[in-house]
Amino acid sequence: MKVLIIGGGGREHAIAQKVSESPRVDKLYAAPGNAGIAELAECIDISVMDFDKQVRFAKEQGIDLVIVGPDDPLVAGCVDAFEEAGIRAFGPRKKAAIIEGSKAFSKDLMKKYDIPTAAYETFTDAADALAYLETKADFPIVLKADGLALGKGVLICNDLEEARAGVKTIMLDKQFGNAGNKMVIEEFMTGREVSVLAFCDGTHIKTMTSAQDHKRAKDGDKGLNTGGMGTFSPSPFYTKEIDAVCQKEIYEKTMMAMKAEGRDFTGVLFCGLMMTAKGVKVLEYNARFGDPETQVVLPRMKNDIIDVIEACIDGTLDQVDLEFEDNAAVCVVLASDGYPVSYEKGFEIQGLDTFKGKDGYYVFHAGTLKKDGKIYTNGGRVLGVTAKGSDLKQARANAYEAAEWIDFQNKYMRHDIGKAIDEA
Ligand code: AMP
Ligand code: GLY
Repeated sequence: MKVLIIGGGGREHAIAQKVSESPRVDKLYAAPGNAGIAELAECIDISVMDFDKQVRFAKEQGIDLVIVGPDDPLVAGCVDAFEEAGIRAFGPRKKAAIIEGSKAFSKDLMKKYDIPTAAYETFTDAADALAYLETKADFPIVLKADGLALGKGVLICNDLEEARAGVKTIMLDKQFGNAGNKMVIEEFMTGREVSVLAFCDGTHIKTMTSAQDHKRAKDGDKGLNTGGMGTFSPSPFYTKEIDAVCQKEIYEKTMMAMKAEGRDFTGVLFCGLMMTAKGVKVLEYNARFGDPETQVVLPRMKNDIIDVIEACIDGTLDQVDLEFEDNAAVCVVLASDGYPVSYEKGFEIQGLDTFKGKDGYYVFHAGTLKKDGKIYTNGGRVLGVTAKGSDLKQARANAYEAAEWIDFQNKYMRHDIGKAIDEA
């Protein structure tokens, strides 16, 4: 088979790693890919949003399967573009990717189908939102830009003043662009978070092993929200009992809800959950693999990913026995100091070769650049260092040991990824 991956981040590197392990794959391409993916695939300089070029390339090369990684192309109809050209593509169609593309859509879906989530109101007018905040709101309260905002469109506001500023940021200043044409105001919830990714074939849903992300920039969950500073899998807090409830009340209901709406969901559904005192509630849906959750989940998957993806496309996922290793994995993100605000890049990275031939250790590239045979930092999040271990503690020790193999100027990481497991 010839496979094309759309995307070029750490998530796509982890997908490429897994795909390259499949004996069914002869040739792997990535558009645009990155310096790490280039060790596994031929990288093509086509942007993730240039569907015409992608389709033309896929036709020319006789690509058998396309895997779309990021949210933006999925929400804009990347899978539809390939399907219209008769090329098999993995991911939700535009109609289904709206579950991530519009928070108002996903909240209304959950309300209509009785899927547990925070209470909310939707606004298209800033004055109405302000009136609501001034008269009806309890604080803290959560403001969410409706559309895609690079994971930054969620503002937690502690008082009316912060909320007023939040409305201005989202709806008036349009800091997240058109994503702020609509806004959801939502009840603030507390509890431990867990990410559950699931393969979906439109009818059936099979969950992968759980993971927990660390979104804040600094140790102790301080600092600004980021794209994710590290992950561990599985989450010891997401017990079998909790999973059983979620299977019925969240995952299966979501699949059926999307079908009932004529938006059959095929691809990976990412459920961001909060385990509150009143039960598990959905924080958000994503229509794709999570980043950096994928960097700890896929290395633990036993199945050939191509078999699973084909079953999703063919509607035969019920016949797949999805299996994960009985171990754990931790991913520590190595970032440029100053991320997510401002940082320098262009520093040479040393030590990448140390990972070669080491079983259970991975270095996934997120923001790197290759020039004259050398690899340089080229983004806020630079690398994701993942290690497996017999349990979470071992995996954590291994990941932090491996994080020291890498060296570059301005290297920054959190030192408490997976520390929560001490409380489990
Ligand atoms: P989202 O993009 O919706 O997952 O939001 C990003 C982060 O904001 C989540 O991972 C939570 O940490 C936080 N968050 C979102 N919604 C709520 C809520 N209703 N209550 C408390 N925290 C929230
Ligand atoms: N780790 C959260 C996300 O992928 O959106």
